[in-house]
Amino acid sequence: MAGTTHSARYTRVAIVLHWTIALLIIGLIVFGLLMTKEWMPNRFAIYQLHKSFGITVLALSIVRLIWRLRHKPPALPDAMPGWQQRASHLTHGVFYGLMFVMPLLGWAMVSASDLPIPTVLFGVVPLPDLPGLAQSEALEARFKALHEIGAKLFIGLIVLHVGAALKHQFIDRDGVLRRMLPILR
Ligand code: HEM
Repeated sequence: MAGTTHSARYTRVAIVLHWTIALLIIGLIVFGLLMTKEWMPNRFAIYQLHKSFGITVLALSIVRLIWRLRHKPPALPDAMPGWQQRASHLTHGVFYGLMFVMPLLGWAMVSASDLPIPTVLFGVVPLPDLPGLAQSEALEARFKALHEIGAKLFIGLIVLHVGAALKHQFIDRDGVLRRMLPILR
């Protein structure tokens, strides 16, 4: 298996995937919250972009998971307490879960919708409905509620994740953040 030894930094591919997916998710959350407001202009276009970028996150997350399974990340510092190491692994696991579950919930929501609104990814590729789902308002509402809960969980995790990264950088000064930065080697 390629790259099974621990190295000091994440691989370049892992770094590019991390920051691309991170930016997409932050954009999805910000515009996801804004697009549901009545006063927001161009809502239809923003909904379409939201769905397009959400499916992009799903595709990139598949690539990322495959890459992650084939390339071990650098080890956490030995000085890091056990509970922090466990918390870090747990947070990353939940992140991976949400990176798959959130787009699938969004996709399921629009698939279950009985409104005749097609999703066309980036205005080019029509998104088919997920198979096996009935088109019902009640089912759509259920996926919508779960999508909202997932969004809140995502926001909470991002705050925790950024807080932990800043603690490593400015309090522990152990170089953990630098391993994921494209600059500042
Ligand atoms: C990582 C991927 C995604 C994230 C982080 C995300 C995030 C969000 C957020 C924060 C909202 C606003 C929720 C609220 O009203 O509180 C939202 C709404 C929505 N999302 Fe996503 N989303 C993702 C993927 C998708 C995908 C792939 C689709 C469809 C293909 C989708 C369809 C929708 C729709 C239709 C709404 C509006 C629901 C409503 O009318 O209230 N999302 N999303």
